[in-house]
Amino acid sequence: MSNSKGHVLIWGQMHPSLMDELNRDFTAHNRWEIADFDSWLDQNGESIRAIVTSGVYGTDNAILERLPNLEVVTSFGVGYDGTDVDYLKQRGIKLSNTPDVLNNAVAETALALMLNVARRISEAERFVRAGKWLKGKFPLGYDLTGKTCGIVGLGKIGKTIAKRAAAFDMNIAYFRRGQAYEGIPYQHYDNLIELAKAADFLVVIVPGSADTERMINRDVLKALGSRSFLINVARGSVVDEPALVAALLEGEIAGAGLDVFADEPNVPSELLKLDNVVLLPHIGSGTHETRQAMADLVFANLTRYVDNKTLITPVLG
Ligand code: 8YV
Repeated sequence: MSNSKGHVLIWGQMHPSLMDELNRDFTAHNRWEIADFDSWLDQNGESIRAIVTSGVYGTDNAILERLPNLEVVTSFGVGYDGTDVDYLKQRGIKLSNTPDVLNNAVAETALALMLNVARRISEAERFVRAGKWLKGKFPLGYDLTGKTCGIVGLGKIGKTIAKRAAAFDMNIAYFRRGQAYEGIPYQHYDNLIELAKAADFLVVIVPGSADTERMINRDVLKALGSRSFLINVARGSVVDEPALVAALLEGEIAGAGLDVFADEPNVPSELLKLDNVVLLPHIGSGTHETRQAMADLVFANLTRYVDNKTLITPVLG
């Protein structure tokens, strides 16, 4: 195709406007629609210079190995833990993500989970729908006001959550190994167990990585305590999921609000039965406005790269 800016491999179904733009300006290959992908790679692997994927889809080194001319991976989402960054680095392949544009949406999701699990909103709605209000009163929840919001990962999204939690008159504290951040008014803990002890809501928003894997373990949950809640809007890998299930079943924490899971879309069956747990299907950034901004940023990164070999929001630039 003469008007094509080159061949792009699209890893999985993307936002509709991004799909349209990719099809308009590039020769786009939808990986999931290729019947015999192995033979396709043999015949077409050399033509692919760019991949479009997402934080959830990630990439696969065995496939990347068969794309000898790959130059750039543009990923939809701020997290890119499904892509092997060291491997890309070693091959000199560039990588971009979509930071900042989703800060508000993810922070809103965190607050929605805090309010929901503390005030038992989902549970209360199930109560009304089941006709149980006709037979009795719904039990009490907890205030957010005056409570301590302990943030694990005070990056850009963490700070956006802090600002919103502060508007609910919560005290804000955060965990960071070593030194406190300069110029940040919130209480610093360099020990996660101590933050968990102090927190009424422990809000997890660190990147998924080998460093953060299962950092929310049984000891942290025990320290959080039976009147406090865990909120996870980061990655399922950050929480030791069997330990969380055990802590909930034993009543070691008051409840949990979870947008992410270790093996999405599979949710541990024990959690499905618990009323003090709010379960969301990874919708942290899932608003029309935010997903559009993410799609636009992926496309802008890709076209910028093709036009002048630079990225707008590089992870590896
Ligand atoms: C997306 C996310 O849902 O940004 C992230 O890291 O997890 C979410 O915004 C995901 O990247 C792709 O759909």
